[in-house]
Amino acid sequence: MTDGSVRQVGIGVLGYEGVAKAHLLAIQRVSTIFWPLPARPLLVAVAGRSADRVERAAQRYGAQAAYPDWRGLIDDRRVQVLINAGPNDVHAEASVAGAARGLHVLCEKPLARTSTEAAQMRDAAATARIVHMTGYNYRFVPAVRLARQLIREGRLGRIYHFRTRYCDDSMVDPSAPYSWRHDKARAGSGVIGDLAAHALDLARFLVGEVSAVSATARIFIDRRPRRDGGEGAVDVEDAIEAVLEFTTGAVGTLEASSFCPGRKNFLSFEVNGSGGSLAFNLERLNELELFVRDDGANGFRTVLVTEAHHPYGGTWWPPGHILGWEHTFVHQLHHFLLAVGGQSTVEPDGASFEDGYRCAVVCDALDRAAREGRRVPVEGLVTPMKPG
Ligand SMILES: NC(=O)c1ccc[n+]([C@@H]2O[C@H](COP(=O)([O-])OP(=O)(O)OC[C@H]3O[C@@H](n4cnc5c(N)ncnc54)[C@H](O)[C@@H]3O)[C@@H](O)[C@H]2O)c1
Repeated sequence: MTDGSVRQVGIGVLGYEGVAKAHLLAIQRVSTIFWPLPARPLLVAVAGRSADRVERAAQRYGAQAAYPDWRGLIDDRRVQVLINAGPNDVHAEASVAGAARGLHVLCEKPLARTSTEAAQMRDAAATARIVHMTGYNYRFVPAVRLARQLIREGRLGRIYHFRTRYCDDSMVDPSAPYSWRHDKARAGSGVIGDLAAHALDLARFLVGEVSAVSATARIFIDRRPRRDGGEGAVDVEDAIEAVLEFTTGAVGTLEASSFCPGRKNFLSFEVNGSGGSLAFNLERLNELELFVRDDGANGFRTVLVTEAHHPYGGTWWPPGHILGWEHTFVHQLHHFLLAVGGQSTVEPDGASFEDGYRCAVVCDALDRAAREGRRVPVEGLVTPMKPG
């Protein structure tokens, strides 16, 4: 499609609540901040399940079409990019169908409910030769990018430890309602896919492949009230505590739980190397704590990652004009649009479906380690891509 001399790329968004709103906001903002783009994004359609509600969402967000079934969205010839922001049970079917129609797909994390399902998505994307990306948006936090840069430049020396926690308190109230997130058939897993997957993707992004895991999991509250009456049985883990081993020789720990009063979106990591350490917490996402052994300073210093020479520095506002959670989705969409336009690739800075699959393999290994009470090697579980 063309708009005068500016090409446009038609986007369809599956979902319009929850995280879908962050994607819809990114579509509205990306060309204000990043210009030129290979093509200006155009919100063609949104899809949901209720005709009334999806129509209202289309009006609100300025979409040209509203579909009460995602199949209508992927059949709309104006759509070239699918953003799949539906629950985990909609990721594989809609993304594979979209890929088969030739749509480029940005799919939310976890890529799928299981690594088997994630492998099918990865293979379908390769077969269709589409551009594909998993929505691990925390790769697009400037401070996380700076951490990766410092590690890759060797500023921390040999990496010994990666210690990560993803904690919130969204489930600590027993009256918090039952949702698809508590249903293994729909979600695949509990906090493993919901929270730990983000931390594992950052582990892979910053340190490298996970080679083995050991873990313990708990269900603290096994029944929750349904919004429409009655109770639902929770059959996914509420919390996971794990030990990670990396192919590099580094070791680490991972905790994920929604039973941590006072913690809201506490995704933190600390990396310790022979030359220094760094630490990050998403609740203070503009900052990176840094300790470099040979710089003469005693103790950690806090770097406000908003300078022009920092990742994404100068893109938004002057130094000190801090960014928030939603900006990661703008960065992510920009990255994806460059790849769709052939100006760069999703990997290595973004997470491809291969990355989403690799992360799903580690998630499955964590689940197995917790259920079987044993250390699970990861490397033997990875299957190579099988494009058709
Ligand atoms: N990257 C992140 O930071 C982040 C944050 C939150 C959620 N997520 C991921 O995003 C996905 C959605 O999570 P959420 O919190 O937004 O969930 P949610 O329940 O708040 O919203 C889900 C959306 O999908 C729609 N939907 C449900 N079933 C559908 C179907 N069959 N067809 C079309 N639309 C359907 C719902 O109407 C709703 O708009 C999950 O995979 C989750 O893991 C990612």
